Amino acid sequence: MKTLNLTIENLEHRKTKKYLAISQAIRDAIKQGQVKTLEQLPSARQLANQLNTNRHTIMAAFNELIAQGWIISKERQGYFVANDLPVNSSQLTTPINTNSPTDFPWRFTKNTDPVPIQTASNYRFNFAGGTPDINLFPFNEFKSYINDAFNRPNINELNYGNTAGFSPLIEQVNEYLRRIRAIKNREIVITNGSQEALYILSQILLSPHSSVATEAMGYSPAWRSFTSSGAAMVSIEQDEHGMIPLALETAIKKQLTINKPITLIYLTPLHQYPTTVTLPVNRRHAIYRIASHYKIAIIEDDYDHEYHYKCQPLAPMASDDPNGLVIYLSTFSKVMFPGARIGFMALDSTLCNAVVNYKTIINHKVSVPMQDAISRWMKSGDFERYLRKTTKIYQQRRDFMAQQLNYYKQQKIVKSFTIPDGGMAMWVEINSSAQQLAERALNNDIFIQQESQFLVDKTKSSDRFIRLGFAGMSASDIELGLQRLFKKINA
Ligand SMILES: Cc1ncc(COP(=O)(O)O)c(C=O)c1O
Repeated sequence: MKTLNLTIENLEHRKTKKYLAISQAIRDAIKQGQVKTLEQLPSARQLANQLNTNRHTIMAAFNELIAQGWIISKERQGYFVANDLPVNSSQLTTPINTNSPTDFPWRFTKNTDPVPIQTASNYRFNFAGGTPDINLFPFNEFKSYINDAFNRPNINELNYGNTAGFSPLIEQVNEYLRRIRAIKNREIVITNGSQEALYILSQILLSPHSSVATEAMGYSPAWRSFTSSGAAMVSIEQDEHGMIPLALETAIKKQLTINKPITLIYLTPLHQYPTTVTLPVNRRHAIYRIASHYKIAIIEDDYDHEYHYKCQPLAPMASDDPNGLVIYLSTFSKVMFPGARIGFMALDSTLCNAVVNYKTIINHKVSVPMQDAISRWMKSGDFERYLRKTTKIYQQRRDFMAQQLNYYKQQKIVKSFTIPDGGMAMWVEINSSAQQLAERALNNDIFIQQESQFLVDKTKSSDRFIRLGFAGMSASDIELGLQRLFKKINA
Protein backbone atom coordinates (compact mmCIF):
# COMPACT_ATOMS: atom_id res chain seq x y z
CA MET A 1 0.00 0.00 0.00
CA LYS A 2 1.02 3.53 -0.71
CA THR A 3 3.18 5.46 1.79
CA LEU A 4 2.63 9.17 2.33
CA ASN A 5 5.38 11.63 2.95
CA LEU A 6 3.89 13.58 5.85
CA THR A 7 5.42 16.66 7.40
CA ILE A 8 4.11 17.47 10.85
CA GLU A 9 5.81 20.53 12.20
CA ASN A 10 6.98 20.53 15.81
CA LEU A 11 5.11 17.38 16.68
CA GLU A 12 6.27 17.61 20.28
CA HIS A 13 5.66 21.31 20.81
CA ARG A 14 2.53 21.79 18.78
CA LYS A 15 -0.14 24.09 20.08
CA THR A 16 -2.81 22.32 17.94
CA LYS A 17 -4.10 18.93 18.99
CA LYS A 18 -2.15 15.98 17.57
CA TYR A 19 -5.00 14.52 15.48
CA LEU A 20 -5.60 17.98 13.89
CA ALA A 21 -1.91 18.33 13.01
CA ILE A 22 -2.01 14.84 11.42
CA SER A 23 -5.21 15.60 9.49
CA GLN A 24 -3.59 18.79 8.22
CA ALA A 25 -0.50 16.88 7.07
CA ILE A 26 -2.66 14.30 5.23
CA ARG A 27 -4.64 17.14 3.66
CA ASP A 28 -1.40 18.75 2.46
CA ALA A 29 -0.28 15.42 1.00
CA ILE A 30 -3.57 15.22 -0.93
CA LYS A 31 -3.16 18.81 -2.13
CA GLN A 32 0.37 18.05 -3.28
CA GLY A 33 -0.99 15.13 -5.32
CA GLN A 34 0.77 12.38 -3.35
CA VAL A 35 -2.57 10.53 -3.55
CA LYS A 36 -5.05 11.18 -6.33
CA THR A 37 -8.82 11.41 -6.16
CA LEU A 38 -10.47 8.09 -5.42
CA GLU A 39 -7.10 6.53 -4.57
CA GLN A 40 -6.87 4.60 -1.30
CA LEU A 41 -5.03 6.07 1.66
CA PRO A 42 -2.65 4.09 3.84
CA SER A 43 -4.50 2.25 6.63
CA ALA A 44 -4.85 3.71 10.09
CA ARG A 45 -2.52 1.05 11.46
CA GLN A 46 0.16 1.85 8.85
CA LEU A 47 -0.02 5.57 9.57
CA ALA A 48 0.01 4.96 13.31
CA ASN A 49 3.26 3.00 12.91
CA GLN A 50 4.75 5.62 10.59
CA LEU A 51 3.95 8.48 12.94
CA ASN A 52 4.62 6.60 16.12
CA THR A 53 1.19 7.25 17.52
CA ASN A 54 -1.90 5.18 18.24
CA ARG A 55 -4.60 4.14 15.83
CA HIS A 56 -7.31 6.18 17.59
CA THR A 57 -5.46 9.38 16.86
CA ILE A 58 -5.26 8.47 13.17
CA MET A 59 -8.97 7.55 13.16
CA ALA A 60 -9.75 10.94 14.70
CA ALA A 61 -7.68 12.60 11.94
CA PHE A 62 -9.55 10.57 9.27
CA ASN A 63 -12.91 11.58 10.78
CA GLU A 64 -11.84 15.21 10.66
CA LEU A 65 -10.91 14.86 6.97
CA ILE A 66 -14.25 13.15 6.23
CA ALA A 67 -16.07 16.04 7.90
CA GLN A 68 -14.08 18.53 5.80
CA GLY A 69 -14.85 16.59 2.59
CA TRP A 70 -11.28 15.54 1.75
CA ILE A 71 -11.72 11.78 2.12
CA ILE A 72 -14.49 9.19 2.19
CA SER A 73 -14.78 5.95 4.09
CA LYS A 74 -15.81 2.74 2.29
CA GLU A 75 -17.06 0.01 4.53
CA ARG A 76 -14.63 -2.92 4.92
CA GLN A 77 -12.28 -1.36 2.31
CA GLY A 78 -10.70 1.65 4.00
CA TYR A 79 -10.31 5.36 3.32
CA PHE A 80 -10.15 6.99 -0.11
CA VAL A 81 -9.48 10.48 -1.41
CA ALA A 82 -12.82 12.11 -2.21
CA ASN A 83 -13.83 12.65 -5.83
CA ASP A 84 -14.89 16.24 -5.35
CA LEU A 85 -12.26 17.99 -3.28
CA PRO A 86 -12.89 21.29 -1.49
CA VAL A 87 -10.22 22.99 -3.70
CA ASN A 88 -10.15 23.51 -7.45
CA SER A 89 -7.87 21.42 -9.61
CA SER A 90 -5.27 24.14 -10.22
CA GLN A 91 -4.48 24.23 -6.53
CA LEU A 92 -3.98 20.49 -6.52
CA THR A 93 -1.08 20.75 -8.91
CA THR A 94 0.48 23.76 -7.16
CA PRO A 95 3.29 22.70 -4.86
CA ILE A 96 2.65 23.90 -1.34
CA ASN A 97 5.50 25.81 0.14
CA THR A 98 4.30 27.43 3.31
CA ASN A 99 7.56 29.30 3.79
CA SER A 100 7.55 31.37 0.62
CA PRO A 101 5.10 34.16 -0.17
CA THR A 102 2.48 33.50 -2.77
CA ASP A 103 1.98 35.84 -5.70
CA PHE A 104 -1.76 36.27 -5.53
CA PRO A 105 -2.68 39.27 -7.72
CA TRP A 106 -4.44 41.51 -5.18
CA ARG A 107 -6.51 44.16 -6.90
CA PHE A 108 -5.87 47.18 -4.68
CA THR A 109 -8.40 49.96 -5.02
CA LYS A 110 -6.57 52.44 -2.78
CA ASN A 111 -3.08 53.81 -2.70
CA THR A 112 -1.08 51.46 -0.48
CA ASP A 113 2.38 52.84 -1.22
CA PRO A 114 4.62 52.67 1.83
CA VAL A 115 4.54 55.82 3.95
CA PRO A 116 8.00 57.19 4.68
CA ILE A 117 7.57 57.18 8.45
CA GLN A 118 10.79 56.61 10.31
CA THR A 119 10.49 55.48 13.87
CA ALA A 120 11.97 58.62 15.34
CA SER A 121 12.28 57.15 18.83
CA ASN A 122 14.80 54.60 17.52
CA TYR A 123 17.36 57.38 17.19
CA ARG A 124 19.70 58.35 20.02
CA PHE A 125 18.69 62.02 19.61
CA ASN A 126 15.06 62.34 18.62
CA PHE A 127 14.21 65.91 17.61
CA ALA A 128 10.84 64.85 16.12
CA GLY A 129 8.61 67.88 16.32
CA GLY A 130 5.54 66.95 18.28
CA THR A 131 6.80 64.30 20.61
CA PRO A 132 5.93 64.64 24.29
CA ASP A 133 8.34 63.34 26.93
CA ILE A 134 6.65 60.03 27.66
CA ASN A 135 9.08 59.41 30.54
CA LEU A 136 7.33 62.17 32.45
CA PHE A 137 3.96 60.43 32.23
CA PRO A 138 2.68 59.37 35.70
CA PHE A 139 2.19 55.70 34.90
CA ASN A 140 1.57 54.65 38.52
CA GLU A 141 -1.02 57.34 39.04
CA PHE A 142 -2.77 56.44 35.79
CA LYS A 143 -2.64 52.73 36.67
CA SER A 144 -4.88 53.42 39.66
CA TYR A 145 -7.52 54.88 37.30
CA ILE A 146 -7.20 51.84 35.03
CA ASN A 147 -7.74 49.67 38.12
CA ASP A 148 -10.80 51.71 39.05
CA ALA A 149 -12.15 51.23 35.54
CA PHE A 150 -12.00 47.47 36.04
CA ASN A 151 -12.97 47.45 39.71
CA ARG A 152 -16.12 49.43 39.09
CA PRO A 153 -16.91 48.77 35.44
CA ASN A 154 -19.83 50.38 33.69
CA ILE A 155 -21.36 47.19 32.28
CA ASN A 156 -23.73 48.95 29.90
CA GLU A 157 -20.98 51.03 28.31
CA LEU A 158 -18.73 47.98 27.88
CA ASN A 159 -21.21 46.59 25.36
CA TYR A 160 -21.81 47.72 21.76
CA GLY A 161 -23.56 51.05 21.42
CA ASN A 162 -22.69 54.51 22.72
CA THR A 163 -20.52 54.90 19.63
CA ALA A 164 -19.92 58.60 20.22
CA GLY A 165 -17.94 57.75 23.33
CA PHE A 166 -18.02 56.75 26.99
CA SER A 167 -20.53 59.17 28.50
CA PRO A 168 -18.46 60.16 31.59
CA LEU A 169 -15.52 60.99 29.28
CA ILE A 170 -17.76 63.02 26.97
CA GLU A 171 -18.92 64.91 30.05
CA GLN A 172 -15.34 65.56 31.19
CA VAL A 173 -14.21 66.68 27.72
CA ASN A 174 -17.25 68.94 27.38
CA GLU A 175 -16.56 70.53 30.72
CA TYR A 176 -12.85 70.90 30.00
CA LEU A 177 -13.48 72.49 26.59
CA ARG A 178 -15.97 74.92 28.09
CA ARG A 179 -13.65 75.93 30.92
CA ILE A 180 -10.24 75.96 29.22
CA ARG A 181 -10.95 76.51 25.53
CA ALA A 182 -14.22 78.48 25.57
CA ILE A 183 -15.96 75.89 23.38
CA LYS A 184 -19.62 75.36 24.26
CA ASN A 185 -22.75 73.69 22.92
CA ARG A 186 -21.01 71.12 20.80
CA GLU A 187 -21.46 67.41 20.36
CA ILE A 188 -18.39 65.42 21.39
CA VAL A 189 -17.29 62.28 19.58
CA ILE A 190 -14.37 60.34 21.02
CA THR A 191 -12.13 58.93 18.30
CA ASN A 192 -9.12 56.69 17.91
CA GLY A 193 -6.80 59.70 17.82
CA SER A 194 -7.31 62.68 15.51
CA GLN A 195 -6.37 60.46 12.62
CA GLU A 196 -9.61 58.51 12.81
CA ALA A 197 -11.54 61.78 12.96
CA LEU A 198 -9.74 62.99 9.83
CA TYR A 199 -10.48 59.74 8.05
CA ILE A 200 -14.19 59.74 8.94
CA LEU A 201 -14.54 63.35 7.83
CA SER A 202 -12.75 62.58 4.56
CA GLN A 203 -15.07 59.70 3.84
CA ILE A 204 -18.32 61.51 4.55
CA LEU A 205 -17.52 65.02 3.30
CA LEU A 206 -15.16 64.56 0.36
CA SER A 207 -15.28 62.91 -3.05
CA PRO A 208 -13.15 62.78 -6.20
CA HIS A 209 -14.99 65.95 -7.28
CA SER A 210 -13.83 68.04 -4.32
CA SER A 211 -10.65 69.72 -3.12
CA VAL A 212 -9.22 70.55 0.29
CA ALA A 213 -7.43 73.83 0.97
CA THR A 214 -4.58 73.71 3.42
CA GLU A 215 -1.61 75.78 4.52
CA ALA A 216 1.29 75.36 2.09
CA MET A 217 3.14 73.45 4.79
CA GLY A 218 1.33 70.98 6.96
CA TYR A 219 0.61 67.61 8.44
CA SER A 220 0.85 64.92 5.76
CA PRO A 221 -1.17 62.21 7.62
CA ALA A 222 -4.16 64.58 7.32
CA TRP A 223 -3.58 64.99 3.56
CA ARG A 224 -3.37 61.24 3.16
CA SER A 225 -6.82 60.90 4.69
CA PHE A 226 -8.23 63.60 2.44
CA THR A 227 -6.75 62.22 -0.76
CA SER A 228 -7.89 58.68 0.13
CA SER A 229 -11.40 59.91 -0.74
CA GLY A 230 -10.18 60.98 -4.19
CA ALA A 231 -10.17 64.68 -3.25
CA ALA A 232 -7.27 66.92 -4.36
CA MET A 233 -5.10 69.04 -2.08
CA VAL A 234 -4.78 72.73 -2.83
CA SER A 235 -1.80 74.44 -1.25
CA ILE A 236 -2.57 77.95 0.04
CA GLU A 237 0.29 80.38 0.44
CA GLN A 238 1.33 81.13 4.01
CA ASP A 239 3.68 83.68 5.52
CA GLU A 240 5.10 84.32 8.97
CA HIS A 241 1.54 84.67 10.35
CA GLY A 242 0.05 81.56 8.73
CA MET A 243 -2.43 81.13 5.88
CA ILE A 244 -3.02 84.23 3.72
CA PRO A 245 -6.80 84.81 3.40
CA LEU A 246 -6.54 86.50 -0.01
CA ALA A 247 -4.64 83.50 -1.41
CA LEU A 248 -7.38 81.27 -0.02
CA GLU A 249 -10.14 83.20 -1.78
CA THR A 250 -8.23 83.22 -5.07
CA ALA A 251 -7.79 79.44 -4.87
CA ILE A 252 -11.49 78.92 -4.05
CA LYS A 253 -12.48 80.88 -7.16
CA LYS A 254 -9.97 79.06 -9.35
CA GLN A 255 -11.12 75.62 -8.19
CA LEU A 256 -14.71 76.58 -9.00
CA THR A 257 -13.73 77.34 -12.58
CA ILE A 258 -12.17 73.89 -13.01
CA ASN A 259 -15.13 72.10 -11.41
CA LYS A 260 -13.14 70.78 -8.49
CA PRO A 261 -14.49 73.05 -5.74
CA ILE A 262 -12.85 73.44 -2.37
CA THR A 263 -15.33 71.99 0.13
CA LEU A 264 -13.05 71.79 3.15
CA ILE A 265 -10.31 73.94 4.68
CA TYR A 266 -7.83 72.20 6.98
CA LEU A 267 -6.13 74.56 9.43
CA THR A 268 -3.83 74.43 12.46
CA PRO A 269 -4.53 77.96 13.74
CA LEU A 270 -3.04 77.91 17.23
CA HIS A 271 0.36 76.45 16.43
CA GLN A 272 0.67 76.23 12.68
CA TYR A 273 2.11 72.84 11.79
CA PRO A 274 5.11 72.82 11.29
CA THR A 275 6.12 76.47 11.83
CA THR A 276 4.25 76.86 15.19
CA VAL A 277 3.10 80.45 14.46
CA THR A 278 -0.33 81.49 15.75
CA LEU A 279 -2.87 82.65 13.18
CA PRO A 280 -3.83 86.19 14.27
CA VAL A 281 -7.41 87.13 15.09
CA ASN A 282 -7.91 89.31 12.00
CA ARG A 283 -6.85 86.45 9.69
CA ARG A 284 -9.07 83.99 11.56
CA HIS A 285 -12.03 86.31 11.00
CA ALA A 286 -11.16 86.81 7.34
CA ILE A 287 -10.84 83.06 6.72
CA TYR A 288 -14.09 82.43 8.59
CA ARG A 289 -15.90 85.04 6.49
CA ILE A 290 -14.60 83.50 3.27
CA ALA A 291 -15.57 79.99 4.41
CA SER A 292 -19.07 81.20 5.34
CA HIS A 293 -19.51 83.02 2.05
CA TYR A 294 -18.54 80.00 -0.06
CA LYS A 295 -20.19 77.51 2.35
CA ILE A 296 -16.99 75.65 3.04
CA ALA A 297 -16.38 73.70 6.26
CA ILE A 298 -13.22 74.26 8.31
CA ILE A 299 -11.37 71.54 10.18
CA GLU A 300 -9.56 73.19 13.07
CA ASP A 301 -6.84 70.80 14.26
CA ASP A 302 -5.87 71.97 17.75
CA TYR A 303 -3.38 69.23 18.53
CA ASP A 304 -1.28 70.78 21.31
CA HIS A 305 -3.45 73.54 22.76
CA GLU A 306 -2.20 73.23 26.35
CA TYR A 307 1.42 73.83 25.50
CA HIS A 308 1.30 77.59 25.15
CA TYR A 309 3.79 79.53 27.25
CA LYS A 310 3.57 83.23 26.62
CA CYS A 311 0.01 83.97 27.67
CA GLN A 312 -3.39 82.39 27.46
CA PRO A 313 -3.66 80.83 24.01
CA LEU A 314 -6.13 82.42 21.59
CA ALA A 315 -9.54 80.80 21.89
CA PRO A 316 -10.14 78.29 19.09
CA MET A 317 -12.11 79.32 16.00
CA ALA A 318 -14.73 76.79 17.10
CA SER A 319 -15.50 78.98 20.12
CA ASP A 320 -16.92 81.68 17.84
CA ASP A 321 -18.68 79.82 15.06
CA PRO A 322 -22.19 81.20 14.53
CA ASN A 323 -22.61 79.26 11.27
CA GLY A 324 -21.58 75.92 12.76
CA LEU A 325 -19.04 75.22 10.05
CA VAL A 326 -15.96 74.62 12.20
CA ILE A 327 -15.15 71.01 13.02
CA TYR A 328 -12.86 71.03 16.02
CA LEU A 329 -10.32 68.22 16.50
CA SER A 330 -8.00 67.53 19.36
CA THR A 331 -6.01 64.65 20.79
CA PHE A 332 -4.53 63.08 23.90
CA SER A 333 -1.43 62.12 21.90
CA LYS A 334 0.50 65.15 23.21
CA VAL A 335 -0.88 65.39 26.73
CA MET A 336 -0.45 61.64 27.23
CA PHE A 337 1.33 59.75 24.45
CA PRO A 338 0.46 58.81 20.84
CA GLY A 339 -0.06 55.15 21.73
CA ALA A 340 -3.06 56.07 23.89
CA ARG A 341 -4.99 56.55 20.61
CA ILE A 342 -7.60 58.86 22.09
CA GLY A 343 -8.77 61.98 20.33
CA PHE A 344 -12.04 63.81 19.99
CA MET A 345 -14.14 66.03 17.75
CA ALA A 346 -16.36 68.85 18.94
CA LEU A 347 -19.03 69.18 16.29
CA ASP A 348 -22.10 71.09 15.40
CA SER A 349 -25.09 68.86 16.18
CA THR A 350 -26.08 68.78 12.48
CA LEU A 351 -22.93 66.82 11.63
CA CYS A 352 -22.78 64.53 14.63
CA ASN A 353 -25.12 61.72 13.52
CA ALA A 354 -23.37 61.27 10.20
CA VAL A 355 -19.98 61.04 11.94
CA VAL A 356 -21.20 58.57 14.54
CA ASN A 357 -22.97 56.42 11.95
CA TYR A 358 -19.81 56.24 9.87
CA LYS A 359 -17.67 55.46 12.89
CA THR A 360 -19.81 52.38 13.53
CA ILE A 361 -18.62 50.95 10.20
CA ILE A 362 -14.97 51.32 11.16
CA ASN A 363 -14.70 50.17 14.76
CA HIS A 364 -17.94 50.72 16.72
CA LYS A 365 -16.20 52.68 19.47
CA VAL A 366 -12.95 53.51 21.20
CA SER A 367 -11.63 51.17 23.93
CA VAL A 368 -13.99 51.75 26.85
CA PRO A 369 -11.59 50.90 29.72
CA MET A 370 -9.13 53.48 28.35
CA GLN A 371 -11.87 56.10 28.04
CA ASP A 372 -13.07 55.23 31.54
CA ALA A 373 -9.57 55.62 33.04
CA ILE A 374 -9.05 58.97 31.30
CA SER A 375 -12.40 60.29 32.47
CA ARG A 376 -11.50 59.37 36.08
CA TRP A 377 -8.06 60.96 35.65
CA MET A 378 -9.63 64.17 34.36
CA LYS A 379 -12.31 64.27 37.03
CA SER A 380 -9.77 63.85 39.86
CA GLY A 381 -7.78 66.92 38.81
CA ASP A 382 -4.62 64.84 38.33
CA PHE A 383 -4.82 65.39 34.56
CA GLU A 384 -4.59 69.17 34.87
CA ARG A 385 -1.85 68.90 37.48
CA TYR A 386 0.15 66.84 35.00
CA LEU A 387 -0.52 69.43 32.29
CA ARG A 388 0.72 72.27 34.49
CA LYS A 389 3.85 70.28 35.33
CA THR A 390 4.70 69.39 31.71
CA THR A 391 3.90 72.89 30.46
CA LYS A 392 6.47 74.30 32.87
CA ILE A 393 9.08 71.69 31.87
CA TYR A 394 8.48 72.17 28.15
CA GLN A 395 8.76 75.93 28.53
CA GLN A 396 12.15 75.50 30.24
CA ARG A 397 13.25 73.20 27.42
CA ARG A 398 12.10 75.69 24.80
CA ASP A 399 14.12 78.43 26.50
CA PHE A 400 17.12 76.16 26.81
CA MET A 401 16.97 75.22 23.15
CA ALA A 402 16.68 78.92 22.21
CA GLN A 403 19.79 79.67 24.25
CA GLN A 404 21.67 76.87 22.49
CA LEU A 405 20.48 78.00 19.07
CA ASN A 406 21.66 81.52 19.79
CA TYR A 407 25.15 80.12 20.19
CA TYR A 408 24.93 78.38 16.80
CA LYS A 409 23.57 81.58 15.32
CA GLN A 410 26.69 83.39 16.44
CA GLN A 411 28.67 80.57 14.82
CA LYS A 412 26.77 81.33 11.57
CA ILE A 413 25.41 77.78 11.40
CA VAL A 414 21.88 78.84 12.26
CA LYS A 415 20.59 81.80 10.27
CA SER A 416 17.42 82.70 12.16
CA PHE A 417 14.68 81.44 14.42
CA THR A 418 11.95 82.91 16.57
CA ILE A 419 11.10 81.65 20.01
CA PRO A 420 7.59 80.25 19.57
CA ASP A 421 4.83 81.33 21.97
CA GLY A 422 3.76 77.73 22.20
CA GLY A 423 4.05 74.29 20.72
CA MET A 424 6.65 71.61 21.13
CA ALA A 425 9.14 72.45 18.38
CA MET A 426 11.19 75.27 16.86
CA TRP A 427 11.25 76.22 13.20
CA VAL A 428 14.86 77.03 12.43
CA GLU A 429 16.48 78.53 9.35
CA ILE A 430 20.01 77.27 8.72
CA ASN A 431 22.78 78.45 6.45
CA SER A 432 23.10 75.18 4.55
CA SER A 433 20.92 72.60 2.82
CA ALA A 434 18.20 71.40 5.22
CA GLN A 435 17.71 68.18 3.30
CA GLN A 436 21.38 67.26 3.38
CA LEU A 437 21.59 68.06 7.08
CA ALA A 438 18.59 65.83 7.83
CA GLU A 439 20.13 62.98 5.83
CA ARG A 440 23.50 63.31 7.54
CA ALA A 441 21.75 63.54 10.90
CA LEU A 442 20.08 60.16 10.39
CA ASN A 443 23.47 58.60 9.68
CA ASN A 444 24.67 60.06 12.97
CA ASP A 445 21.76 58.65 15.01
CA ILE A 446 19.87 61.96 15.08
CA PHE A 447 16.30 62.37 13.89
CA ILE A 448 15.27 65.78 12.53
CA GLN A 449 12.66 66.84 10.00
CA GLN A 450 13.18 69.37 7.24
CA GLU A 451 11.10 71.75 5.19
CA SER A 452 10.32 69.67 2.11
CA GLN A 453 8.71 66.94 4.23
CA PHE A 454 6.00 69.41 5.22
CA LEU A 455 5.29 70.96 1.83
CA VAL A 456 2.16 70.09 -0.14
CA ASP A 457 4.06 71.18 -3.24
CA LYS A 458 7.59 69.84 -2.77
CA THR A 459 8.95 71.93 -5.64
CA LYS A 460 8.50 75.05 -3.50
CA SER A 461 11.16 74.12 -0.94
CA SER A 462 13.75 76.76 -0.07
CA ASP A 463 15.73 73.90 1.52
CA ARG A 464 16.67 76.10 4.47
CA PHE A 465 14.35 75.16 7.35
CA ILE A 466 14.50 72.36 9.88
CA ARG A 467 12.10 71.56 12.71
CA LEU A 468 13.60 70.79 16.09
CA GLY A 469 11.37 69.32 18.78
CA PHE A 470 12.30 70.29 22.32
CA ALA A 471 9.48 68.89 24.46
CA GLY A 472 10.51 65.26 24.29
CA MET A 473 14.18 65.82 25.15
CA SER A 474 16.04 66.50 28.36
CA ALA A 475 18.20 69.64 28.48
CA SER A 476 21.38 67.56 28.33
CA ASP A 477 20.14 65.66 25.27
CA ILE A 478 19.20 68.94 23.60
CA GLU A 479 22.73 70.22 24.23
CA LEU A 480 24.51 67.02 23.15
CA GLY A 481 22.20 66.45 20.20
CA LEU A 482 22.68 69.97 18.83
CA GLN A 483 26.42 69.69 19.34
CA ARG A 484 26.53 66.49 17.32
CA LEU A 485 24.13 67.90 14.72
CA PHE A 486 25.85 71.21 14.09
CA LYS A 487 29.47 70.80 15.13
CA LYS A 488 30.36 67.38 13.82
CA ILE A 489 28.00 67.18 10.91
CA ASN A 490 28.35 70.66 9.63
CA ALA A 491 32.09 70.71 10.16
C1 LIG B 1 -1.04 68.49 13.23
C2 LIG B 1 -1.29 67.27 14.04
N1 LIG B 1 -2.54 66.84 14.20
C3 LIG B 1 -2.79 65.75 14.94
C4 LIG B 1 -1.79 65.04 15.56
C5 LIG B 1 -2.12 63.88 16.44
O1 LIG B 1 -2.66 62.83 15.77
P1 LIG B 1 -3.25 61.59 16.55
O2 LIG B 1 -4.29 62.09 17.52
O3 LIG B 1 -3.87 60.76 15.46
O4 LIG B 1 -2.14 60.89 17.25
C6 LIG B 1 -0.49 65.43 15.39
C7 LIG B 1 0.61 64.63 15.97
O5 LIG B 1 1.75 64.74 15.65
C8 LIG B 1 -0.23 66.59 14.63
O6 LIG B 1 1.02 67.03 14.48
